[in-house]
Amino acid sequence: NQNIRIAITPGDGIGPEVVSEAVHCLEALRDKYHLPLEWIRFPWPSHAWHEKHGESMPPDALEQLQRFDAILLGALGDPGPAYDNARYLLPDSVSLAPLLQIRKHFDQWVCERPARLLPGAHQYLADVRARNVDMLVIRENSEGEYVGQGGRLRQGTPDEIATQVEIFTYRASERIIRYAFEQARNRAQQRQASGQPRTFHGQSGSESTSQVCLVTKRNALRHWGDLYTEVFAAVARDYPDVALHHELVDAACMKFVQCPWAFDVVVASNLQGDILTDLAAILSGGMGVAPSCNLNPDNLELPSMFEPTHGSAPDIAGQGLADPTAMLLTTARMLEWLSQKTPQLGVAAEALFNAVTADLADYSGQQRDTQSIGHSVRERLR
Ligand code: NAD
Ligand code: IPM
Ligand code: MN
Repeated sequence: NQNIRIAITPGDGIGPEVVSEAVHCLEALRDKYHLPLEWIRFPWPSHAWHEKHGESMPPDALEQLQRFDAILLGALGDPGPAYDNARYLLPDSVSLAPLLQIRKHFDQWVCERPARLLPGAHQYLADVRARNVDMLVIRENSEGEYVGQGGRLRQGTPDEIATQVEIFTYRASERIIRYAFEQARNRAQQRQASGQPRTFHGQSGSESTSQVCLVTKRNALRHWGDLYTEVFAAVARDYPDVALHHELVDAACMKFVQCPWAFDVVVASNLQGDILTDLAAILSGGMGVAPSCNLNPDNLELPSMFEPTHGSAPDIAGQGLADPTAMLLTTARMLEWLSQKTPQLGVAAEALFNAVTADLADYSGQQRDTQSIGHSVRERLR
């Protein structure tokens, strides 16, 4: 029996701060449950590595990562003035490139971003119903606005033209929309099993125990909007038990604030999903508690990547202000994912999730020293 191997890439800014809390929890879990788990910490991709080597990661980085079962990534991007090497400035498009490369190379085509307001997490919206926010945003993670094609013509002249191509394929659209319907069904079953079914409304006036909301901008971005709409209708025929909904992305932003409790599963393109999930993070308590993951559900032999929704937060880096909760929830999701390979990890995933949520609930409404959170969660794991 081989160990499950995790590549740990702390990255920049608050990345290393929250990653170190995750590693402490992994140690505690490994020792308590005798888990067949090992990890290696990589100094790349990062600003510091780039400063030294002139590139964000070594040329064989992807080959090295391929030998792992999962990647646990802190965050990438400008480390900010709190760090000595802040004088070494690198455009975001350069420092963040490895992230997009890794997602692409290992075909991590699903980005799952749950937004559930856990007990004890800060409720930003005043409406009491906002307590019940519990949605899952599924972001298309392989193409769309992120294909990186285009360029600049007549650069430096008043006639300059910048193009940024968006590509949407039937294949990628179909698999992500189908994935969203599968998740809607799973979530309804889980709620049913725990005796907490919910009712959602479809646009046709139907009622159901689950819902998928498709987000597009099909009134202006017609080609992929039509493709998504057609695929959504076709896939929906296989899921008559799921209520159907569509929102234009601008109206979706409005409704996320107006009535976020009305959403169950939301499926969106790469860029629109990115934007919606920062908003969804706030609905679920803030960037500090919003987990995320990049999955390749087709091939467990390739590493999926686990990273919180937040970035390197240069405004608070190096000050002990980073909330590790998002990272710890992300780590729990990683263990759950890996339990498909090694069922034993499922117990550890649940233990970590329960410890994080119990800790959050216990400190409900209190001003909290974020530096004590990791320690407090770890105590609960013993
Ligand atoms: P950000 O998510 O880093 O920060 C947004 C705000 O949320 C900031 O005010 C920050 O202090 C706060 N915040 C974020 N995480 C927090 C935490 N754990 N605890 C408490 N507060 C937290 O987004 P940004 O400021 O737009 O981007 C900063 C850098 O990070 C940029 O270089 C950006 O490109 C990069 N970025 C990287 C990733 C990634 O590596 N996955 C994701 C998003 C942004
Ligand atoms: C995220 C981030 C990245 C993205 C950036 C840093 C490239 O915002 O993971 O949400 O847009 O995917
Ligand atoms: Mn983002």
